[in-house]
This record gives sequence, C-alpha cells and structure tokens, in this order.
Amino acid sequence: MTAAGDPFAPGRLGPVRLPNRIIKSATSEGRSPEGLVTDSLIDFHLDYIRGGVGMTTVAYCCVTAEGASAPGQILMSERAAPGLERLTAAVHADGGLISAQLGHAGPVASKKITGVTATAPSRMVNPTSLEYCRAISVSEIARVIEGFRDAAVLAADCGFDAVELHFGHNYLPSSFLSPLFNRRTDSYGGGIDARSRLVREIAAEVRTAVGDSIAVTAKISMDDGVPGGITLAESIRTAQLLDADANLDALELTQGSSVMHQMFLFRGDVPVRDFAAVMPQPFKAGVYAFGRKMLGEYPYYDLYMLESARQFVPVMNNTRLILLGGITEYEHMVTGLNEGFDFVAMGRALLREPDLVNSIRADRTKQTLCTHCNRCMYTVYGRTHCVLDPESAFGPIPSAEATDLGVPTAARRAAAVGSTAKVVNRA
Ligand SMILES: Cc1cc2nc3c(=O)[nH]c(=O)nc-3n(C[C@H](O)[C@H](O)[C@H](O)COP(=O)(O)O)c2cc1C
Ligand code: SF4
Repeated sequence: MTAAGDPFAPGRLGPVRLPNRIIKSATSEGRSPEGLVTDSLIDFHLDYIRGGVGMTTVAYCCVTAEGASAPGQILMSERAAPGLERLTAAVHADGGLISAQLGHAGPVASKKITGVTATAPSRMVNPTSLEYCRAISVSEIARVIEGFRDAAVLAADCGFDAVELHFGHNYLPSSFLSPLFNRRTDSYGGGIDARSRLVREIAAEVRTAVGDSIAVTAKISMDDGVPGGITLAESIRTAQLLDADANLDALELTQGSSVMHQMFLFRGDVPVRDFAAVMPQPFKAGVYAFGRKMLGEYPYYDLYMLESARQFVPVMNNTRLILLGGITEYEHMVTGLNEGFDFVAMGRALLREPDLVNSIRADRTKQTLCTHCNRCMYTVYGRTHCVLDPESAFGPIPSAEATDLGVPTAARRAAAVGSTAKVVNRA
C-alpha cells in the first residue's frame, strides 16, 4: 500500500497536520444545555481522541442567535469562549486536533427557539416544521457572512485547529445553492454560479479573517435527495468555483436535507418508534402512520456516498476532499484514500464505538458493531448516544419542542396532511 492509501499516515490539512486520516464527523452532542461547554461535552470529544481519531468535530455552533436549529446549541460568542478554550486545551493535551462546525440554520431554524421568524433565500413554509420562513434581505446576508467570519476568528482565538463551514443539509448556505429554496432574482439567485455566491463569499471572508492560523473546511451537500433540489452536476460546479477561489483547505462531501426526507442523509432503518417516542401527544399516531413516508426509505450500504463523491476527485486542484458516509472498516478507509480522498470522516460507527480507530489499528479485520438502526437520531433530544451501548445510555430521552431534525413539528405535519414532504412556495 502507498503511504497515500494508509489511514494511519499523518496528513496535512492546510496549516495543520493530523496524526492520521480519520476525522470524527459532527454529530449533535446535546451536552451544552446552556449553550456552554460542559465537562460532559469535553469527555465526549476526548473519547474519540483517546479512541484514535486524528481530529474531532464539535457539532453545529451557531454563528448568530437567529441561526440556531435546536435548543442548547453553542452560540459563538465571548460568553462561550472560556468553555471552548477549556475544550480545545483538553483535546490538545491528549494529542488530538479539534474542529468547530459553524452554521446558520436558515429555513431549519425555528421561531420557537430563536424568537424570530426563520429566514430562507425565498419565502417558503418549511414542510417539516410547518413554519413560515421569510426571504432574507441583502443587508441580512451581509450580517450572516460577518457572523461566519467572527465565529471563525473566535474559534481560532479559542484554540481550534480548524473550522468546518456548514454548507450542507439545506441549512442557510445550502438552501441558497438549492433551486428548490432559492428563487431569488437578485445576484444571489438564478443559475448555479449565482446561487454559489453566498458560500463563496462566506469562505472568502472567513479565510481573509483567519489567514493561515487554522484550517478552513466546508461540509457541502452533493445532492438534496429530493426532486428539484441540488443536483450532483450543480454541486460539482459549486465545488469547482470554491476550488478556484482557493479559500478552503478541504471539502467534506455529504448528501441530503434536514428539511425533508432526512433518511437520505443516513440510509438504513427508519426509526419510527423512536421518532414517535419523542413526540408529544396527539402527534404520536401521525408519526406511526406517516413517519416512514416523511423521512423516506433508503437502503444502507457501505461507502454509500462514494459513487457521487468520486466525481469530485478529478476536478479539485487546490482543495482536499474528505469522504463521508458508511465508512466503518479499515478496507473502507483504504478504498477512499486510494480513490484520491485525503481524509475519511465517520459518524455513527464512532458513536457506537468511540475507540473504533484504535481497535482497527490493532486488528485490520475489525467489523463495526453499528447496525445502522439509526435510533441514535432521536437521542439528540437528550444527550446523543448509541442506544445499543449501555455504557452511553444516559437515562430517558426527554421530549423537546424542536431539534436539528425538526421532529415534533414534523409529526404535526404528518397529522395535518399525511403526505410526503413538499416545499410550499409562497413567493
Ligand atoms: C445522531 C446524529 C447527529 C448528527 N448531527 C449532525 C450535525 O450536528 N451536523 C452535521 O453536519 N451532521 C450531523 N450528523 C450527520 C453525520 O455527521 C454524518 O454526516 C452522517 O451520520 C453520515 O456519516 P456516517 O455514515 O459515518 O454515520 C449527525 C448524525 C447522527 C447519527
Ligand atoms: S444507535 Fe448505535 S447502532 Fe444504531 S445507528 Fe446509531 S450508532 Fe449505530
């Protein structure tokens, strides 16, 4: 095997060097109830570092208060800084690297959480939350870009090695890329080059502000998985534009939407019972009846994003690529790296076994214990964990008003309309 295909070889990511090629992808932790770092959040990330990953990722840190998608998310502000410093120092003391995922939820945000009407590229009703989203103005777009910039500077000041800009899952930047959400007639709407303007401006502003002090990556959707959404061809064009700008050190390629057909992102079992369990009455029945249809059904298979992701490899000149999706074993990592990806990222397999990387290092034939049951999806209502791991079962999962997955209101919708998600355009 060449050094390039070795998951345990160190790898350069812009200005930083990872001890190996394996990254823990962002999985909402549910361990910052006041929007502040807790010991539990630090322990969560130390588990992955001690378990062998090269870099861990703090999930969804909001760049502005109205960009929150769930209660308790960390808002990148001076208030959060002391805890963030403690978190990065703890990870560094154990020899690992740490990235902060920075996001603005846009149409995935909820007024119940933020107190203000959610914004989207164009007016719409979120089919999951059933909430009205107003069109964001140009001056508000400028403030969002500044929010990403200030959040990245704060992350660098707090000791993070990298930031991951969330350009996926139909959050605000991703919804600008999607023709399903973006029907603007100004310079942020139209063809894919115009729809790519926002993500390019965010990346440029962040890079100018942080220089080479930290790595800057972005998680970007290759396709929304719904008719009329971002297509692979358009996404490749966006990636080429970002690559030519050379403001990003790497792109992590993802798929799917947090607004509709959420299972396209995950694949595998549809956890309808867990979905219903976190629902208030009288919506449980609606979830039992229509949950599968709402979330969509997509079979799981290993390396399920590779077929689309490999099409980005030949067109990248400046930007490294991170492969995600159904990577659970040594052979999957080697396959990805040999195909031209520089890093691999893992979510559920590590949630199931935080020490999986060390286990694979000791035994290259090690198989994952994750069954892709996807029941962890609904543990984000409490403290995110694998339900099959008794060591990480933290007691009953509390009901919640809203989450990253928009579940309670999704059931309301199921009860109301009983059909598959569809964006309702009002402009
Ligand atoms: C419980 C859970 C929470 C997640 N939260 C986030 C998140 O906050 N931000 C994000 O970009 N992706 C999130 N994801 C998606 C993962 O980062 C990853 O993209 C997805 O699970 C596919 O990778 P895998 O096949 O290795 O699990 C979450 C996934 C799970 C299972
Ligand atoms: S609950 Fe555990 S086994 Fe099921 S998908 Fe999540 S991590 Fe894997």
